[in-house]
Amino acid sequence: MLAWYAASARDLPWRRPGTTPWGVVVSEVMLQQTPVARVEQPWRRWLEEWPTPAALAAAPTADVLRAWGRLGYPRRALRLQQCASAILERHAGEVPEDEAALRALPGIGEYTAAAVLAFAFGRRTVVLDTNVRRVLGRVMTGQALPRPHLTRTERDQAAAVLPTEAASAARWNVAVMELGALVCTARSPDCSACPVQARCAWRLAGYPSDEHAALRRTQTWHGSDRQVRGRMLAALRAHPSPLPVLGLLAAADCPEEQAARALASLDADGLVSQQGGFVH
Ligand code: ADE
Repeated sequence: MLAWYAASARDLPWRRPGTTPWGVVVSEVMLQQTPVARVEQPWRRWLEEWPTPAALAAAPTADVLRAWGRLGYPRRALRLQQCASAILERHAGEVPEDEAALRALPGIGEYTAAAVLAFAFGRRTVVLDTNVRRVLGRVMTGQALPRPHLTRTERDQAAAVLPTEAASAARWNVAVMELGALVCTARSPDCSACPVQARCAWRLAGYPSDEHAALRRTQTWHGSDRQVRGRMLAALRAHPSPLPVLGLLAAADCPEEQAARALASLDADGLVSQQGGFVH
């Protein structure tokens, strides 16, 4: 796995030597729900503008939301700024090298804390994102796709195959993640390119299909409210001055009831504010 990674990994900017722990935090938050190709440029620009937690904490929130641009799920931008403020207040502006301290920060969950410890500090942690879960599920238990929720058994299995030495363990984590992104993909795995094809339980079992997939497909309908929120934020970004509420509802390009619901949820999340019939 490590030899495959050395030969095949993408040269992604946050993996380069010299990336600060804060740079790793920003990359992992951006990558939580956005594909790598759409994160590279915004990540570079973001760190040029706000290279430290102190710089981001001091920025106007409107600038932060504008810079988040098209990354999607913009609540992450607010949480990242809150995270920066908390690092400034609790840890003198330095990203803490401690799991409990990381998890106590806004926007940092189990996955992100483990990823930051591994990729920023070279520590031995079990990093389980959706790519890693899919690869290990296939290779170790012959399961086509992981269940929606992480289980104790998965954590134990991942820990059992993690190299003992810290630096190798950190590289192992990113190697398995990269294999999931490039070769062992959800829809069209390229098993001929896989370094562990000969010992993959899923391959050896004849690629049994996923009995939960049909159920998951019916759940993707929930994406549409999110799209409406995205269109509204794009319209607001495109206009420097406040927009009339009615104009914004029209820009949402969907049934009025859905547009009103989306606007109310943006307001509730603190992403927009309304005053006298105008939104900004
Ligand atoms: N390298 C380190 N963390 C990553 C992530 N979350 N996605 C893609 N590449 C990464």
